[in-house]
Amino acid sequence: MRLGELFKGNIPVVLAPMAGVADLPFRELVCSFGASATVSEMISSEALVRDSRKTYRMLACSERSNLIKIIQIMGADPKNMAESAIINETLGADVIDINMGCPVRKITSNNSGAALMKDENLAMKIVESVVKSVKIPVSVKMRLGWDAEHVNFLNLAKKFENVGAQMLVIHCRTRNQMYCGKANWSAISELRDVLKIPYFCNGDIKSSDDAIRAIGESRADGVMIGRGTLGKPWLLKQIMEFLRFKKYTPAPSPEDQYKIIVQHFQNVLDFYGESAGIHIFRKHFCWYSTGLPGSSIFRKTINEVDDLSFIKKCLEDFYSGCFGAIL
Ligand SMILES: Cc1cc2nc3c(=O)[nH]c(=O)nc-3n(C[C@H](O)[C@H](O)[C@H](O)COP(=O)(O)O)c2cc1C
Repeated sequence: MRLGELFKGNIPVVLAPMAGVADLPFRELVCSFGASATVSEMISSEALVRDSRKTYRMLACSERSNLIKIIQIMGADPKNMAESAIINETLGADVIDINMGCPVRKITSNNSGAALMKDENLAMKIVESVVKSVKIPVSVKMRLGWDAEHVNFLNLAKKFENVGAQMLVIHCRTRNQMYCGKANWSAISELRDVLKIPYFCNGDIKSSDDAIRAIGESRADGVMIGRGTLGKPWLLKQIMEFLRFKKYTPAPSPEDQYKIIVQHFQNVLDFYGESAGIHIFRKHFCWYSTGLPGSSIFRKTINEVDDLSFIKKCLEDFYSGCFGAIL
């Protein structure tokens, strides 16, 4: 049982699951700086049970890092969810997380993701059947509720605890808010008075100052961070150090950032192959270069070419041009 390790001394700071972003190369990169744990991209329980090869590539089994590996599963059938949890446990997951927060229609129209918050009985059955099927801890990631009229996270949190969930994560928005407005951290502070299991605050935490405020307002045991890490895989480490030592850690120097990007790009090429790797990495080039002088021309160029040596040359020229300007 490795969940307890999360709470040894320090306030846990965890990388959020992000489909299409938090793949193995990204999780390993974030881990290389420091993170309490990472969560995989959501994995469809249906696809996993059907033995889809693409889905297997998303699993933790090949993860080299020693950090706690949380694998997130998504689906609406208690039996499939239990089966996919067993597969993940066998492959080395430390924790199984159940997705009850995804707002996308493609997912909710199948009663999965955030739609489960509307069907409390089914949601409970799923948690119960996953808990019973594995020995490792089970967590649930959810939102405040479906919409402003149906804010039921508190009720569900108590039910999930009763059927054996060992940790909860709340993205402090309703499903209907999608990603709009501001995450309401204080909305979940009541959980502190009703839960025995730990809970994490998630949504709009993009800096060390945000993390301190989110913990204060939500009274959560830890924070989970997603979009703040885009182009800044070192952010979790900065936040962990701030929470521990109350000291701001600077971002890596531009030269070091360049080396990090080159390594990340290479890892993506190795993982997916050259053609898919170039395509997948374009969004990372975009995030890494945001705010740097000349970045829009760099992005336009890099988005239009498929030649690997040309892309590498563009990257080198762009960053060497930046060093003087941003030092
Ligand atoms: C590109 C992207 C993909 C996401 N994929 C998932 C997912 O697979 N599972 C999940 O529970 N949440 C997913 N989320 C939601 C995030 O985990 C997180 O709850 C949300 O982004 C709010 O946190 P943040 O403000 O720190 O990004 C995704 C978010 C983004 C931006």
